[in-house]
Amino acid sequence: MEARVENGGSCEVGKSGWGKSLPVPSIQEIMRSDSQSVPQRYIHENKDRPIISEDLADSPEIPVIDFSFLAKGNEDEVQKLHLACKDWGFFQVINHGVKEEILEKMKAAVAAFFELPFQEKKKYAKAENEIEGYGQNFVVSEHQKLDWSDMIYLFTLPSQNRNFKFWPLSLSGFKEALEEYSREMQKIAEELQANFSVLMGLKRDGLKRLQGGELKQGIRMNYYPICSRPDLVLGISPHSDGTSFTLLLQDDDVTGLQIKHNEAWVPVKPIPNSLVVNIGDATEIQSNGMYKSIEHRAIINEKKPRISIATFMFPDDEQEIGPVEAMIDDQNHPKLYRNIKYVDYVREKFSRKMEGKAHTQFAKLSTR
Ligand code: OGA
Ligand code: NI
Repeated sequence: MEARVENGGSCEVGKSGWGKSLPVPSIQEIMRSDSQSVPQRYIHENKDRPIISEDLADSPEIPVIDFSFLAKGNEDEVQKLHLACKDWGFFQVINHGVKEEILEKMKAAVAAFFELPFQEKKKYAKAENEIEGYGQNFVVSEHQKLDWSDMIYLFTLPSQNRNFKFWPLSLSGFKEALEEYSREMQKIAEELQANFSVLMGLKRDGLKRLQGGELKQGIRMNYYPICSRPDLVLGISPHSDGTSFTLLLQDDDVTGLQIKHNEAWVPVKPIPNSLVVNIGDATEIQSNGMYKSIEHRAIINEKKPRISIATFMFPDDEQEIGPVEAMIDDQNHPKLYRNIKYVDYVREKFSRKMEGKAHTQFAKLSTR
């Protein structure tokens, strides 16, 4: 059965049925009227609060991968990629070949969207029983702490998954910027996927086959308003991505993303024009845990709002995802995850609040 979106009268179908989330206020709007307040629902418990430090000089750097070397099949770079995925689950990609102009246009389009009057943005509001559109996801209870961000999530590829009633088409240049950006991300994603395949002992097209053809794509655009008490709130709660992998375009000069590494929160200092890539849960499962989808979160800046653009690459809904044969060896690497239909996995993820990696238990085999 097709769940019906409630924000418009048109009959486009798009992609549907991944989950639902309770409606929440726009924190950007709350801050517009009173930038000093920190509403109770956003104040995290002591143990979850971030430590806000201006001094990032001593923190470790996540690995940097030169995409132009990967694309040429450079063995050393492939090995670097392997270690980055194994030891960090996160890396920054430089020399990816996407023109700066395309990245800038995309950032400008997203900034322009969030600058629209609230009444205008609300036209693209997500329905409670959908995850696409403007609003927030992963809100499952009136009591849960809320994240200090607004977002708009759109399915972008394959193009028949586009649900234009959620696209701000009246915003000049938005559609063109998003389509062009989406195409560029797909090209990078295909090369990365081919490399992951080889590193998992498959042919270059191995994961493509096991993920049900071309990678699917959805783009989540996040807006993090300023907060007078960034030490009390989180921009996005700790979570891992339920994707194959994710490509993140960050603001060049506001650091916000932090990843869990050796039990500590490590900031990802932006390299201008680079993309941050992280391994998602589907790759963790397919690699039988060799690569881990790492917990990450975003913190808030007191003085500058921040925008980020997350391109989620994921398998086909109907595809069964499980550890690939070459990654299982009964003696040393027993199978750690069960095979699971991808749509069942995402439904489990979207039925919960963001809570680190708790949702990944769903795919784990019990080990005794
Ligand atoms: C996400 C995410 C981090 C960021 O959208 O899944 O982790 O820095 N975003 O915005
Ligand atoms: Ni994420």
